[in-house]
Amino acid sequence: MCGIMGYLGERPAKDIIYTGLKRLEYRGYDSAGVAVLTKDVQTIKAVGDTSKLDLTKLPKSATIGIGHTRWATHGRPSAQNAHPHTYGDITLVHNGIIENYQDIKDSLKLSDLKSQTDSEVLAALINNNYQKGKISLIEALKRSLVEVSGTFGLVVMSPLESNQLLVARRGSPIVIGVGDIQNFVASDPSAIISHTDKVIYLEDDQIARVTRTSIEIFDLKLKHKNPNINRLSKSEAEATLGHYKTYLEKEIKEQPESLKNLMRGRVSQKGTVKLGGPNLDADDANNLEQILIIGCGTSYYAGLYAKYKLEEMLNMPVIVEHASEFRYRHGAYKSNSTLAIFISQSGETADVLASIQEAKRRHLKTMGIVNTIGSSVARAVEHGGIYLHAGQEVSVASTKAYSSMVSAILMFGAQLVYQRGGNSNITKEVAKELLMLPSEIKATFELHENIKKLTKQINHFEKWFYLGRNSLYPVALEGALKLTEVSYIHAQAFPTGEMKHGPISLVDNKHISILLLPEDETLYEKGISALEELIARGGTIFTISTRPKPKGSNYHLQVTYVGEYTEGLIYNICLQLLALEVATIRGVNIDRPRNLAKSVTVE
Ligand code: AGP
Ligand code: GLU
Repeated sequence: MCGIMGYLGERPAKDIIYTGLKRLEYRGYDSAGVAVLTKDVQTIKAVGDTSKLDLTKLPKSATIGIGHTRWATHGRPSAQNAHPHTYGDITLVHNGIIENYQDIKDSLKLSDLKSQTDSEVLAALINNNYQKGKISLIEALKRSLVEVSGTFGLVVMSPLESNQLLVARRGSPIVIGVGDIQNFVASDPSAIISHTDKVIYLEDDQIARVTRTSIEIFDLKLKHKNPNINRLSKSEAEATLGHYKTYLEKEIKEQPESLKNLMRGRVSQKGTVKLGGPNLDADDANNLEQILIIGCGTSYYAGLYAKYKLEEMLNMPVIVEHASEFRYRHGAYKSNSTLAIFISQSGETADVLASIQEAKRRHLKTMGIVNTIGSSVARAVEHGGIYLHAGQEVSVASTKAYSSMVSAILMFGAQLVYQRGGNSNITKEVAKELLMLPSEIKATFELHENIKKLTKQINHFEKWFYLGRNSLYPVALEGALKLTEVSYIHAQAFPTGEMKHGPISLVDNKHISILLLPEDETLYEKGISALEELIARGGTIFTISTRPKPKGSNYHLQVTYVGEYTEGLIYNICLQLLALEVATIRGVNIDRPRNLAKSVTVE
């Protein structure tokens, strides 16, 4: 993952790089470093986040430099393994994985490396080509990139050609900020938006040479390419905490607003849904035979929830795959009549991007549901898609993006029903429910105080089951993931009816079961049977239901029934708040859980 920031201009590079890195910490925060160039390179590094860096050790006079905030893939988080890495005349920061680093290390007989990283090996390779070939730095970089396999977003500098930063990308995002007698390089626009709104997104297998006054883009043969300059809007890349203590809580509480932003101009009171983004013409829509939804983590669970609803709405098979599985799986999909929808908050998840390439190779139609404007997923899909407009999500644990993803797919389904001449009541019903959702979610927040109190009583449980049936099963999965991520508790979800096929053997006084009971009468009764089975084995049960507390349940939350398409989102709000409160009591770093990063740009 990692965040990369580079600057060259007329101002102190260290300050600009440092503030940029602060904004990129969501991408990784196990160690950090900054290197600036005067006559030679001066570097500072530290374990932990960027606040551990001692900037006073770097000269203010340096106006060119690079920085990095790391999420380790090769070598543990340590000051030595932190980037920037210098080898000979080369200093670089790298995001990604050099898969053949061991081969390169062996063939160059590198015995003087200072770190365990693949990135330092890449620096050594570039240095070797540079010194050996007596060629320009860009030529050395080009030759080196041909030799490596894997992924990279990287920025290289050298005291021997001190007026430039060289940048390259394969699989890891890089954006170049266009300034006035100054230019910027970063992993995403949030790091540079306060300096410029003009950006160039580097494409895979492109190299850029950036000086204070020029930006040149090349392909891997060093043939010039025309740069495409995009304009950003400020709101796209800025987020502040306001009066909240954590981004997690802020983003949970933002959901009524983020959902309104998603629906604005798209869902009408008259019961219509009109999406400008997806470009499927009438033939495409009518010829569709199946939908494939692909994502990771929370985005995958959003897709899984949508499956239950879309299959009902469209009477069409909907398959949901983990991107990390899909990209290497045979999977028998009909080309041309399958629509593959890729869901991603960041729009930069490596497995999702690889899956888009795989889907294209199989001639599937590709569409995106993405939060980050201009991100790689948004640009890679061929049939457009839906931007969530949920605003920047800072907390590593995804919350507001989830409800927007679910709603966006429901909107898409409602439009598709209409396009295919299906039952127009479905479209109206979905639109009606969605429009009610922001106020229903707001009303659900009134349960927050109660959830706080209940959490104090159940926080001591060491193991948590999350149980749901039908579309509440994916809600249970997402609830368990949320708790696991932010509180480090082992939580696991099962379809309610599966407990008796194995997991129930674990029930003891260390376990609590969060049982989601649906509105549907028959399924509610089935849920109550599961409750009885758990009670009979001495289990502790926390129920969430649209009905009052059932007999035998130990703890209970009663939620409003909002309708068949969106009901899961209300249960989900309760589970998000529960995870927030457990993590608060446990005193962990809620917005930045250990070992994780917000944007997973490595495989
Ligand atoms: C969510 O809480 C997780 N941190 C994680 O599972 C996330 O949803 C996943 O990595 C996918 O990210 P994306 O939506 O940016 O592709
Ligand atoms: N592979 C590099 C390292 O371990 C970069 C890691 C990353 O991009 O996540 O330092």
